[in-house]
Amino acid sequence: MQRVYLDQASTSYPKAPSVAAAVFRYLSGEAVNVGRGDYGAAHSVEERIFETREQLCRLFQFSDPSHVIFTSGVTESLNILLKGLLRPGDHVLVSSMEHNAVMRPLVQLAKRGVLFDRIPCRPDGSLPLEAAEALIRPSTRCLVCLHASNVCGTILPAEELGAMCRRHGIFFILDTAQTAGVLPISMEQCHVDALAFTGHKGLRGPQGTGGFLVREELARELEPLLSGGTGSSSHLEEMPPFLPDRFEPGTPNIPGILGLRAALEDLEQAEPGAGFRREMTLTERFLAGLRRIDGSGDLLRLAGRPDCRDRCAVVSLQTLRRDPAQAAYELEARFGVMTRVGLHCAPSAHKTLGTFPTGTIRFSFGPENTEAEIDLALEALEQAAKP
Ligand code: ALA
Repeated sequence: MQRVYLDQASTSYPKAPSVAAAVFRYLSGEAVNVGRGDYGAAHSVEERIFETREQLCRLFQFSDPSHVIFTSGVTESLNILLKGLLRPGDHVLVSSMEHNAVMRPLVQLAKRGVLFDRIPCRPDGSLPLEAAEALIRPSTRCLVCLHASNVCGTILPAEELGAMCRRHGIFFILDTAQTAGVLPISMEQCHVDALAFTGHKGLRGPQGTGGFLVREELARELEPLLSGGTGSSSHLEEMPPFLPDRFEPGTPNIPGILGLRAALEDLEQAEPGAGFRREMTLTERFLAGLRRIDGSGDLLRLAGRPDCRDRCAVVSLQTLRRDPAQAAYELEARFGVMTRVGLHCAPSAHKTLGTFPTGTIRFSFGPENTEAEIDLALEALEQAAKP
């Protein structure tokens, strides 16, 4: 049976063309550590890792490669940022569309006296700016939110939120899990103080890669969450004061970072915006197909925006006459269509969209999916959604 991979919001497949070879080359031909050994091979890998920091600065329009920190992805990055910054009595704003990568650290911090408010988003996932501004207090330390919903694809107004944060003197932390490598993002233009990214989704790099880019004003407020050896300032039993070392203890995921470097090279060589345009063409075809197979709305209800405006290539559907898990199981078992079903680690987003607690079936598209795959998914869905 044909396999149709439509779970790109979870992790992208296929990876960018040069990724696998770069990981293989390092593991089979070098595999040396960085920041430890004083020999040519180690310095050569260190140089490539630094170049990866520079590539990320170009991608996100940021000026300081030493302030690009590698982690295992957005979850670790947000934990470092939130737990490093917030103290009892501090207040935080989040959107009501957040993933648990934001909510779980915040709920943990709330037990230690950190306060937070959710900006109530509209039922299509969009964020009303006036509602955000009304929630700011003198103790508000930061606003943290995702750039686009992993549940329904709705894009939040990062530029306007960043400008608002700047006006009020609060830090703006942006989670780009669904948009890095897909949408253009300028830290400068959006006044982003810290940008958390993952390497394995839109950047099409290996799993377990990612990090954050952080402005000095925020970096100097952060207490390191993790500490340990860095290969630098080894006479100290405290973390070094300088970045990136201050937030990068232990041996990094070198094969992953070199795979990410290759993915970023592929992206730099591609036509700007081509991947996103392609994904949105597929999304449009899928949305049009939904209207065709279920014009009366008997079988399916679309969660989030009905069109392609302010969205990325993620579509979530409620199955009105089937349990979504059963429908998703059939999509795969009978038609080879792979999706993600349930609450997508984002209960707050599902509450906003009116799809909690049952959840949705989520279809997400990548630049290498085809029109034929979209049509097959629609045919399969028409069958699987029927009682
Ligand atoms: N957060 C990822 C998803 O939405 C894993 O599937």
